[in-house]
Amino acid sequence: MKDERQALEDLRQEVALHNRRYHVLDDPLISDGEYDRLYRDLVALEAKHPEWLSADSPTQRVGDSPREGFSTVEHVVPMLSLDNGMDREQVEAFDSRIKRLLETEDDIAYTAEPKYDGVACELLYEQGALVLGSTRGDGRAGEDVTHNLRTVRSIPLRLEGQAVPDRLEVRGEVFMTLAGFDALNRSRMEQGLEPFANPRNSTAGTLRQLDPRSAAERPLDIFVYGIGRAEPDLGVATHRELMERLAGLGFKVNPRMHRGVGIAGAIGFHESLEHDRDDLPYEVDGSVIKADDFALRERLGTLNRSPRWALAFKFAPRQETTRLVDIRSYVGRTGTLTPVAVLEPVRIGGVTVVHASLHNQDEVDRLDVRVGDTVFVERAGDVIPKIVKVVTDARPRRTRRYRLPEKCPVCGSVTLRLEGEVARRCPNLECPAQVKERLRHFASRGGLDIDGLGEKLIDQLVERGAVRRPSDLLDLDLATLVSLDRMGEKSSENLLASIERARQTTLTRVLNALGIRHVGERVAEVIAESYRDLGKLLDASQADIEGIEEVGPVIAESVRLFLDDPANRSEVDRLRERLQIAPPAPRAEGPSGVEGATFVLTGTLSEPRAELEKRIKSLGGKVKNSVSKRTDYVVAGNRAGSKRDRAEELGVEILDEDALRALLEAE
Ligand code: IVH
Repeated sequence: MKDERQALEDLRQEVALHNRRYHVLDDPLISDGEYDRLYRDLVALEAKHPEWLSADSPTQRVGDSPREGFSTVEHVVPMLSLDNGMDREQVEAFDSRIKRLLETEDDIAYTAEPKYDGVACELLYEQGALVLGSTRGDGRAGEDVTHNLRTVRSIPLRLEGQAVPDRLEVRGEVFMTLAGFDALNRSRMEQGLEPFANPRNSTAGTLRQLDPRSAAERPLDIFVYGIGRAEPDLGVATHRELMERLAGLGFKVNPRMHRGVGIAGAIGFHESLEHDRDDLPYEVDGSVIKADDFALRERLGTLNRSPRWALAFKFAPRQETTRLVDIRSYVGRTGTLTPVAVLEPVRIGGVTVVHASLHNQDEVDRLDVRVGDTVFVERAGDVIPKIVKVVTDARPRRTRRYRLPEKCPVCGSVTLRLEGEVARRCPNLECPAQVKERLRHFASRGGLDIDGLGEKLIDQLVERGAVRRPSDLLDLDLATLVSLDRMGEKSSENLLASIERARQTTLTRVLNALGIRHVGERVAEVIAESYRDLGKLLDASQADIEGIEEVGPVIAESVRLFLDDPANRSEVDRLRERLQIAPPAPRAEGPSGVEGATFVLTGTLSEPRAELEKRIKSLGGKVKNSVSKRTDYVVAGNRAGSKRDRAEELGVEILDEDALRALLEAE
């Protein structure tokens, strides 16, 4: 018995080793056939002894039961974003700023590595075993996708080597190789499924599958580039040492990495990466330049959720030519028809582009773009692709100028172009396209911010007749939600919980959510501040509304027209019954920022602390001694120590003295 147990352990180690040689190091020691034999032997032995089954066995990558939904994972150390640099000058400015902040003229040691275009994830290991895997989400919290990350062959289920830390959070980018992506799309098309637009979408889509068996079939991969918590400390002082340590623990670290003193070397790395870009087996949208030394990083700190010690150096935007095969029009929230170009698929900057917005009739006329034309399309970063030019020489014969349709493409109503307006619109408020867009806007971030109510869900709700107007969203119940495609009990409950949360809202949000023409977040805010109560606004005259600073006659008329419409009025009443609408917080002089915010001052500051405290307090801010989740700003002077660390850990914004002064002066 004992021998068999030992044999099982040995076999597990052997399979894990060859798995790692193949998937992590890309340097197999045995043939695929031999590996398969070992693997089958292990499966057989485990089947014989189910009592010895262990979650970190290499046979246990794919769990057998699909999940019901996703739970949220809070990142103990927030996962930050990166500032972008678009050209050499901006990268040099980044370097100069670092030197200025560190008060040095010496060159800085940098590392540079590819910026992968995938999904950032965090892996938690306890006593060497992978116990939790999550997506970055908004940086503070993401989704638990452990079941899918376990299927990624290059992610170790158990850490290797000596001195395995008790607890370790490793961060990296999960992505799909281009070859894997192409194969996946080919097979999807054969099955009559919609192909994914790019490897990043397919990665994100795969990680969001409930059943790990789908993820297991897809070619996901990872490169790690950092850590969160490590207990005990890994005892490394630089990024390069960290990467070596992580490789030693069994993680996949990209050998394509630069380290050198001075920014020029990092720029050189970037240029050579851009040169090789099309030959790389995975998608890259730039390079990431990082100060190598952790002690320097600490001194530099973070600003607005991005570290001052790192920069994403993006590749230049790309242009391609392609043929425009059709122009379609889409109906937005206010009924506006937007012409959209349908293109012959073209790869630009790593993404297959098939659509580009033409904005409105004037833009179509300005470009004189016609169906059949060859056009220049540009894609810059994540921005919607745009048509920059028509190659008129290549225009086929007998093309026609494009005009937006006289009838709404969704509901067939006669469309109107009002005098003095660029937009042509569908006047039918019941038009399904408008209804969906209004609901989307209502639930969006600046509106009621109903988490988890996505586009697809709204489409389904409208198409099934479950929801017609925004207030209907507040009456949704479990039975309705569970009956929708792709909604399990868990996700339905989560959605109901976010709807409950959204009920406690503010007047600003409600005003913005209503989707009144010309009333965006800012206007909603000033109107809310002035009326403070929805009832009062309902009774206000147009002249009254126009009296608010920043509100002109056009806005005032639009608000009055909206509120005078009986259907809108009854919707507002229904919302008032269903929501708890708080007035905006009362305000002293000056805009928000300091008002109501909690500050902690730390380190050596050039002005007496008491002086700064007085100024903060005079503007309505509070000054506290210790950093907590409720702290809004930590002002860090020279040699700021543990409070600054705590702030970083909690993702609290860290200001230097200059930033504080700017904030105080802005008031
Ligand atoms: S370092 C604060 N290294 O870029 C440091 N990030 O905009 C943050 N990313 O969400 C991460 N490749 O998904 C780092 N080599 C790399 C990266 C990388 C891609 C992504 C990552 C993050 C985003 C930040």
